Amino acid sequence: MIATRILTDIGPVKCLILNDIQTINEAFSLRSEEFGARPAILGNATGMGNIGLVLLQSGAYHKQEKKKAMSLLRGLGAGSDKFDETMQPYIQRIMSLIGDSPRKINLRNLCSAAMTDIIGGITFGDSFCNERSETCQKIRKLISNNFQNNPALILVGKHLPLKLKQLLDNFTDMESNISKMGGLLHGMIKSLHHKEEQNQDILNSFVFRYVEEYASSHDGQSLYGNQKEESQLVGLIIDFFQAGCETTAVNLEWLMLLLAANPDVQQKAQQELASVFGKDPPTLKERRKLKYITALIAEGLRIRPPAPLGAPHSTTRDVKFHGYTIPGGTPVLGYYISAHHNPNDFPDPHQFKPERFLNNDSDERRSKRVISFGIGPRSCAGEQLARSIMESLIIHILHQYNLSGKDGEEVDLSFKAGINLVPNENEVFICPREAIKPL
Ligand code: HEM
Repeated sequence: MIATRILTDIGPVKCLILNDIQTINEAFSLRSEEFGARPAILGNATGMGNIGLVLLQSGAYHKQEKKKAMSLLRGLGAGSDKFDETMQPYIQRIMSLIGDSPRKINLRNLCSAAMTDIIGGITFGDSFCNERSETCQKIRKLISNNFQNNPALILVGKHLPLKLKQLLDNFTDMESNISKMGGLLHGMIKSLHHKEEQNQDILNSFVFRYVEEYASSHDGQSLYGNQKEESQLVGLIIDFFQAGCETTAVNLEWLMLLLAANPDVQQKAQQELASVFGKDPPTLKERRKLKYITALIAEGLRIRPPAPLGAPHSTTRDVKFHGYTIPGGTPVLGYYISAHHNPNDFPDPHQFKPERFLNNDSDERRSKRVISFGIGPRSCAGEQLARSIMESLIIHILHQYNLSGKDGEEVDLSFKAGINLVPNENEVFICPREAIKPL
């Protein structure tokens, strides 16, 4: 029985893997009609079915939901100067987690706590999440367990016998995890709705605005009680936590590790901050002047793309591609980490060199695109938000701290395989800058 299910669901599936920027662009952007579906198997394996955004099949409904989600995220300030204000409480909390005396720090714990805090706050409102910090911790644990899974196990996981699951290292039942997460999120959405005194940050939250937007486009009708619409909202929030928290946490972790491993880059970035802001705290309002820091963030995304295989696409019908006939329904993966290490696009690809993005020639810059957020109509819905969060955190961390290898050791930049490109567990040394010398 189990073997039959595995064969029908998985079978000997042939998969197309694209590993250079031009080919990924051609398939996912220029020919998105043919390459823009999602493999149905994923919705089945995770129990998410056809809700949210990541696993939603392409078509008019996906387009409409993505447009709505992105416009609401823009309304929360992502990508604009007013995002400084949004980030204030989160910056303060991450700084107090780091503390004000020199010490070794476990980046995994720091970065994933910071991102659950930020994504939770933006989704539900900061004060609302603080009151429910226990629920948010549970959600965080469920997400991080899911991300420890080997991608292949996600597909076969639910068909394996319990005894075998117990023997597998780090095995997580994704379907059951997602269902628990859905239950917790349903509860949060309902209590947000019933909260009697709505704080300003709740009124500004994604969920509140989503519900308002639904009412205004449905003659004042409430979304609550409409099972399909409520499930779609829960699916979207699961995506925000699943696709948003871990990727952004891993991105921050890599940037901090790369800065610790490259003191010359760190120094140049701090000099840039000093020349733009003097001793004042940095702000996103001046981010266009921060060319070196923008380049170092791009270089971090290039050398260590947080989602190295993105999310799987699938062909919508039989297609001819580069002399091959690819059957309809074939899973297609963009192998971003390989594309970003092609020496023709990025000479010395294994070197961390922000300078490669400082060339002003726009044609050359365009051809050397970093595509860690994907490309085309299925590209990341949270790119603008993730970029704003990252810029804000990195300028504040660089302004206040120096990072280096602990005990003078070299920084370990190795990683383990999984859905995300997660650094092997390590610690860095973090030291407030006044403890070394004033600017
Ligand atoms: C550094 C952080 C992030 C990275 C590197 C990243 C990367 C990606 C990638 C590679 C995809 C798949 C693109 C494709 O299928 O072609 C994706 C999809 C998606 N991401 Fe992100 N992401 C990040 C942060 C976020 C955040 C913060 C959110 C929301 C809060 C988010 C929401 C989504 C959603 C909803 C999709 C599905 C889009 C669709 O299928 O149309 N991501 N992301």
